[in-house]
Amino acid sequence: MKNKTDHKNPPASVISEGTERARPILHQHAHEIQPYGKIAKLPIALDQQACATSVELLNQILADTITLRDLYKKHHWQVAGHTFYQLHLLFDKHFDEQSELVDAIAERIQLLGGISIAMAPDVAETTFIPRPPRGREEAPVQISRMLEAHEIILKEARTVAKQAADAGDDGTNDLLVSQVIRTNELQVWFLAEHLVDVPLVRADIAKAVASGS
Ligand SMILES: [Fe+2]
Repeated sequence: MKNKTDHKNPPASVISEGTERARPILHQHAHEIQPYGKIAKLPIALDQQACATSVELLNQILADTITLRDLYKKHHWQVAGHTFYQLHLLFDKHFDEQSELVDAIAERIQLLGGISIAMAPDVAETTFIPRPPRGREEAPVQISRMLEAHEIILKEARTVAKQAADAGDDGTNDLLVSQVIRTNELQVWFLAEHLVDVPLVRADIAKAVASGS
């Protein structure tokens, strides 16, 4: 007669019997299929040297864009003061828009046959944007920090856009002009206006008289 307990708790080999083909193959390792810095050319009718140059320059802009994106999230979480609510929302909106740029730049690098920088340590080693402190900063300091980061990216993007156009890489030029430059310029406007020192409620007559207006 069959033991009731054995039937309820069959051995592991019985439970897994017949599932060999359905089991995931874990802990796999192999050599990389493409080393970083090398180009695996795709048939996009673009010179390999032009692809390699764009990939290298775009990776710098990518590292800086990832850093600025993360600055926005840091400041979204840590902002303080009477403008908390609007800045909290604005910083997150800009974070989302920067995330879209990160994806567009990274995918441009891949379709050029290159490899996108992706992980935080590689971004930290590459970016030109100064590292912020771990602690919280006042809103004007947060905004100043991000304005400086935007300007670093805008400067790079304008230079690389021109180089890409000269090399015949119109796609990279278009990405930089239509998306990277325009998005960053608009975000600069929304940030910079928060640093204009105007009265909140009562007009400053003394200053108006002094300036002759
Ligand atoms: Fe949030």
